[in-house]
Amino acid sequence: MGIGEAELASITENVIRIMLSLHKSHHDPGPAREQHGAIRSSRPNSTSAIRSSGIAMMTRPLILINLKTYLEGTGPRAHQIADAAQEVADESEALIGIAPGYLDIHPIAMHYELPVFAQHVDGESPGAYTGHVTAEALHSAGASGSLVNHSEKRLGLSAIDAAISALHAQKLTAVVCSTNERTSAAIAALGPDYVAIEPPELIGSGISVSKANPDIIRRSVAVVREINPEVKVLTGAGIQSGECVKIALELGTDGVLLASSVVKAKDPAKVLRDLVSLL
Ligand code: G3P
Repeated sequence: MGIGEAELASITENVIRIMLSLHKSHHDPGPAREQHGAIRSSRPNSTSAIRSSGIAMMTRPLILINLKTYLEGTGPRAHQIADAAQEVADESEALIGIAPGYLDIHPIAMHYELPVFAQHVDGESPGAYTGHVTAEALHSAGASGSLVNHSEKRLGLSAIDAAISALHAQKLTAVVCSTNERTSAAIAALGPDYVAIEPPELIGSGISVSKANPDIIRRSVAVVREINPEVKVLTGAGIQSGECVKIALELGTDGVLLASSVVKAKDPAKVLRDLVSLL
């Protein structure tokens, strides 16, 4: 499923070339920049060709709630959050997705219309891989996609590439996390559906990336658009209100990834209503 060393080297080379050109254009406004989107991933982008009925085709902003392994988001309590998310999605028509733990994926996918995501997937094919979670297993559990390379579950570039390929082979949506614009650039070249930029120091801090570090969002959006305009961008860390979501969208993202403000809330529906209030 993964790419070969030569292809990986070529992707890396392209990304470095683009990063250098962005760096040059930032410091030397004289020469014209390379034409937008002129350099692409060395493999054909599959985003528009597949998942024609999946969320990749949706143009609405995505509000994706990661339940992590919080007790407040496990088992029956995951269902309570899914209930709240479904209620708010129905009344607002917002696109709200949920990423519960593995054991809750199947029951939640069966009971709700929300897109359900795994928090991680391995790129291996089905077979003798004890303890791995395959894209095929996610597909049969009813998932719509998976997070990949979350800050709390990091992977190397070739494992990220294998995970994206495995998800796409099952027509599942790949939301690949990154911690800064350099990794956003490398990941965009691999052609996921979404890159989700989350500064690790703000995760779980209650301090919103939209307000504390809008520049990292702006720079990530720019670099992802430059490398592959078909890849959408999410941002996350400390997202907690409609205002945070509004700022993120104004900075060019296609939605947000969040956890604690909803998972730990006494009344998740109330927080969710606020989150979608300015869409
Ligand atoms: O995956 C979302 C997460 O890392 C952000 O967490 O608690 O800051 O919303 P939180």
